[in-house]
Amino acid sequence: MADVRATPEVLTPPEAPPSPTHVATRREDYRPPDWLVPEISLDFDLDPQRTRVRASLEIVRNGDHDRPLRLDGDELTLISARVDGREVEPGLDGKQLVLDLPGSRAMVETEVEIAPAANTKLMGLYASGGILCTQCEAEGFRRITFFPDRPDVLSRYRVRMEADKDRFPILLSNGNNIAAGEEGDGRHWAQWEDPFPKPSYLFALVAGDLKANSDSFTTMSGRKVALNIWVREADLPKTAHAMESLKLAMAWDEKVYGREYDLDLFNIVAVADFNMGAMENKGLNIFNSAYVLADQETATDADFDNISRVVAHEYFHNWSGDRITCRDWFQLSLKEGFTVFRDQSFSADIGSAPVKRIDDVRVLRAAQFPEDAGPLAHAVRPDSYIEISNFYTATVYNKGAELIRMMATVLGAEKFRAGTDLYFDRHDGEAATCDDFVKALEDGSGVDLSAFKIWYSQAGTPKVSARLQHDPQTRAATLHLEQRVDPTPGQPDKAPMPIPLRTALIGEDSCAEIAAEQLVLLEKAQATIEFANVAEPPLLSINRGFSAPIVLTVDRRPGELERLAQCDTDPFSRYEALQELMMCALVASATGAAADLEPVTRAVGATLRSDALDAAFKAEAILLPSEPLIADRLDVVDPDAVHESREALRRAIGNELRDDLASAYGTSGAPGHDLSPAAKGVRRLRNVALALIAAGDERVGATLAHRQFMAADNMTDRQAALGTLVSLDAPERDQALAAFYDRFHDDPLVLDKWFALQAAAQRRETVDEVQRLAHHPDFRIGNPNRLRALAGTFGYNHWAFHSPDGRGYRFLTDMILDADKLNPQVAARLIPPFGRWRRFEPKRGELMRESLERIVGARGLSKDVYEQASKSLA
Ligand code: ARG
Ligand code: ZN
Repeated sequence: MADVRATPEVLTPPEAPPSPTHVATRREDYRPPDWLVPEISLDFDLDPQRTRVRASLEIVRNGDHDRPLRLDGDELTLISARVDGREVEPGLDGKQLVLDLPGSRAMVETEVEIAPAANTKLMGLYASGGILCTQCEAEGFRRITFFPDRPDVLSRYRVRMEADKDRFPILLSNGNNIAAGEEGDGRHWAQWEDPFPKPSYLFALVAGDLKANSDSFTTMSGRKVALNIWVREADLPKTAHAMESLKLAMAWDEKVYGREYDLDLFNIVAVADFNMGAMENKGLNIFNSAYVLADQETATDADFDNISRVVAHEYFHNWSGDRITCRDWFQLSLKEGFTVFRDQSFSADIGSAPVKRIDDVRVLRAAQFPEDAGPLAHAVRPDSYIEISNFYTATVYNKGAELIRMMATVLGAEKFRAGTDLYFDRHDGEAATCDDFVKALEDGSGVDLSAFKIWYSQAGTPKVSARLQHDPQTRAATLHLEQRVDPTPGQPDKAPMPIPLRTALIGEDSCAEIAAEQLVLLEKAQATIEFANVAEPPLLSINRGFSAPIVLTVDRRPGELERLAQCDTDPFSRYEALQELMMCALVASATGAAADLEPVTRAVGATLRSDALDAAFKAEAILLPSEPLIADRLDVVDPDAVHESREALRRAIGNELRDDLASAYGTSGAPGHDLSPAAKGVRRLRNVALALIAAGDERVGATLAHRQFMAADNMTDRQAALGTLVSLDAPERDQALAAFYDRFHDDPLVLDKWFALQAAAQRRETVDEVQRLAHHPDFRIGNPNRLRALAGTFGYNHWAFHSPDGRGYRFLTDMILDADKLNPQVAARLIPPFGRWRRFEPKRGELMRESLERIVGARGLSKDVYEQASKSLA
């Protein structure tokens, strides 16, 4: 349902009839709320089948107007409504409850009934494995009670809940538990009060048979905070890592941003059914169990890292999100971009900073660049949406983080901190905008950042080309830079953007910095930068640390990249040089040009043998660019050619570098229980080497992988071995898959891995296998993790998804339409792989387009899926 502030604008897709519910909300239509709700009391009579919710809202007119009070509601059964104690017959306008209030204040009471067990959308109050829990961001609170469900209405919450004591012994909400008691009829109750005013999307409630891992943290001012991670009893042993991560995150935010936790209690609850990663509800974070539960037997190193990252992310939201929230949902990146930037910095500090940066850029390129280059492109601060859930995107989150990183780079650490201090101070307790954030950075630092605001409003990834000219006579080097941004939907003409490029020159012979790093700010369409005293032939090291989220093309001499891959003094740029060297060969062979693989294998060999590099870095550097990334470089994509080209290079590396890979595989120093960055790096290198050994020789690879699979004492090595085996046609493949299933089928998170590994397999048969797996007794379309493990993973298995007969498209289309009936939000997230149809060879492009049309034409389609599919067709 569109927000009341909006002037409806119906988007008409090619095939579907315009539907009155599919209207867009526009940023320019923002108006402050007509009515405020300073206080709310909620009373829950909890039951999975029928839950009674009584709400008392203290309503205050905001400004001089005569508009009625409009309360949002969705799938609520209204029992009664009262104004100042008198029963009233409210009007309904669509899903909104409309009340004419004569005075400037009123007490509005409503009573509704909801059915948590029937809530398959997992928005509002729902049931997950016997636990009742809530998800209210962005617009789920209206599925619990009638309320002005928008982030700029901040209220103090008092909550009472009552439930059967045996089934729901633990009753939680935001803030502090102020009272509890028994009803005598097997039911008990608890009362909670949150002293901090908050928007409705931060409300949370949990009831269930939960046990806590309890600990505490003493804040910098000496306050003791009780910490609890609530899970099912059997999962308690798997909560240690999340608890450690939480304490590290609390200390980090004090040290790096001066932010202290503000309540005496911090609760985390893990649930098995969750649409996203986790949710930062004030004092009561609710998590997808995938981002809480881990032990050596069941979780990989990547899982452990993701837990640290997400626990920190949600904790950091307490300031960047809860204390200061968003004025409207167009400002989502205010909290998400900033919080991602904060969690990235945290992970870099507790692990390996260069490897973390490589990882973050890999995510950006895999998810955000394609978004920016396709039909779903939108600005970090979008201009309109039909369904806000569709805008929890890599653009809002990850490009939003990059944009803050650029401003932080320009300011330097000290001034950036002065800016964030002012931001937290100035806007504490408010619902703010992205402009407010930039203004606070400017005022706190004394630096004009206005040029950077275009990064919030202009979509599309800037393309920068660079050319370095050197004159040995005059010892002058000249750097020529040019930028452009391609048109995106609704934005045909683009302006130049400020692009901070950390730049240095490396001597081709000396292999050392001959011009120290400087920050070059490209502000206009073109620029020229002069370097004096350059005697040696220079190598251009630019966009070091990926200082700007751009696509960079450098005009280079043959041999330059290979040299930079050995010499660059910036680890990211060194990684980038080897990746680019591979990419050039891959693009050449995918387009039928002659590809010289020898410089690549030579550079990979040198990297493997280097004494100066650590194992984790080596593993990242020698990993080949993915097939979608190669496809992004082609004008017309033929997935078979892309696959062949990548496989050919993997084979070449596997064959030519047999000995180097064998010795990398033999690296020791990684006992299974050791989670240090060094040990994780060794496991990573061994497993990347294993995959390449198998590419060179299937038999040797299958034997090694199977041996590793059988002997592994940790999930990282076990999953990696199985990951290599699933793409081979070896008898060990099916044995290992069966053994894995037998051992772990009772653990849902590990079973997700079993589904995902098969959906990711690089084999022709994968499309048949995912179809079979969709009928497997353990497949649950209603569980978001399981659906993503099968259908989500398959959509990104480039070669298999783009099967020439269109069966991959049909499979995913069926999945999307089936899932949409239960959970539109999760279904809509499966659509993006179809959005690239224009870039494929005509036969596949046509089949992809037909799939989108089938989706848009389906009866009873949700607005979530409608928006993504219709925009993908445009
Ligand atoms: N604010 C949460 C986070 O970033 C994401 C929740 C989004 N949920 C949703 N249903 N759209 O951590
Ligand atoms: Zn977030």
